[in-house]
Amino acid sequence: MVCTRKTKTLVSTCVILSGMTNIICLLYVGWVTNYIASVYVRGQEPAPDKKLEEDKGDTLKIIERLDHLENVIKQHIQEAPAKPEEAEAEPFTDSSLFAHWGQELSPEGRRVALKQFQYYGYNAYLSDRLPLDRPLPDLRPSGCRNLSFPSSLPEVSVVFIFVNEALSVLLRSIRSAMERTPPHLLKEIILVDDNSSNEELKEKLSEYVDKVNGQKPGFIKVVRHSKQEGLIRSRVSGWRAATAPVVALFDAHVEFNVGWAEPVLTRIKENRKRIISPSFDNIKYDNFEIEEYPLAAQGFDWELWCRYLNPPKAWWKLENSTAPIRSPALIGCFIVDRQYFQEIGLLDEGMEVYGGENVELGIRGSLSSLAHHALQARQPLYLPVFMAVI
Ligand SMILES: *[C@@H]1O[C@H](CO)[C@@H](O)[C@H](O)[C@H]1NC(C)=O
Ligand SMILES: *[C@@H]1O[C@H](CO)[C@@H](O)[C@H](O)[C@H]1NC(C)=O
Ligand SMILES: *[C@@H]1O[C@H](CO)[C@@H](O)[C@H](O)[C@H]1NC(C)=O
Repeated sequence: MVCTRKTKTLVSTCVILSGMTNIICLLYVGWVTNYIASVYVRGQEPAPDKKLEEDKGDTLKIIERLDHLENVIKQHIQEAPAKPEEAEAEPFTDSSLFAHWGQELSPEGRRVALKQFQYYGYNAYLSDRLPLDRPLPDLRPSGCRNLSFPSSLPEVSVVFIFVNEALSVLLRSIRSAMERTPPHLLKEIILVDDNSSNEELKEKLSEYVDKVNGQKPGFIKVVRHSKQEGLIRSRVSGWRAATAPVVALFDAHVEFNVGWAEPVLTRIKENRKRIISPSFDNIKYDNFEIEEYPLAAQGFDWELWCRYLNPPKAWWKLENSTAPIRSPALIGCFIVDRQYFQEIGLLDEGMEVYGGENVELGIRGSLSSLAHHALQARQPLYLPVFMAVI
């Protein structure tokens, strides 16, 4: 999930793929829906500048910040899967998928790529053709490379939650976690399949898991839901299956970058009541290039919808871009002490789909630390400065 951003500064080291989750995220924001509806009703032409000029203040600024995500939504609305006979007549040239990618593809290649894009919300056709262990640019603030960490840190279980994710995207999430987490810190990987119907996530995924487990018995655990439970209960299932002292809960369209684990685990080791979210960059949905996102805190608006926030003044005063940023909410991928997560009551398993948990966790973290440490500096949530996620 990606939020709208309030700042464009600095650098970060995580990558997040703008897939269907973003679309759902943004569609929840009422005015976006209205905006798109008005554009859509007026026809296919891009948002007219005049219309934008009429809108004042925040709305305009926010619209500008939506960048390509807005285009993804429009595209999805306009590209509702066509009936087969219509699809054949379509030249495929006006899809946003081909704006920056795929010009050289044959008509047949385009047809297949577009179909997959409509199904997954990102360019699964390209993903299938990229190496699972592709290199990522190291976008961390330069000071991060010089930091040192305690030699003994707690192990982590990395949990990936998915439903009908493209297999190659999921495998790249797994590979990057395995290759970019120091082996002595990564206890296991847990895959929570929330009742996917996609066939390739069955046998082919099991083959991959068996291959890895052949070398490291029990390293990848698969939890399959026999009915769809939604994001929150899926996360809790992953947490239940985890055995390491620290649990990292992630979407399954992420790529981890180097050095993500040590600073996160160090902060949890210092204080087990910290809930950490990494810093994310964006994996572009069309060409899978990495787009640098600024360092930011994560908050929420009056609709409790997620927002990237300018880091607090206290953080700027440190003049240390490797310092963690205090954050009132989380965008959904986070790392937490396994026991502590239970102590604060996990997530509300009554929540369907998603959208509230980012705020809920912030409130649970705050209440808990208020209750137990009223006189201590409150440190419910921090955003550290390393990570890579699609
Ligand atoms: C990192 O450490 C090296 C040598 O210890 C030093 O030369 C360099 O300036 C440091 N870089 C940063 C960004 O602190
Ligand atoms: C998904 O859930 C439905 C019931 O909601 C069930 O009938 C079906 O077998 C499940 N599919 C898988 C792959 O578990
Ligand atoms: C910057 O922050 C990091 C992480 O908290 C810390 O380890 C480091 O010592 C800080 N650097 C300076 C110059 O204060």
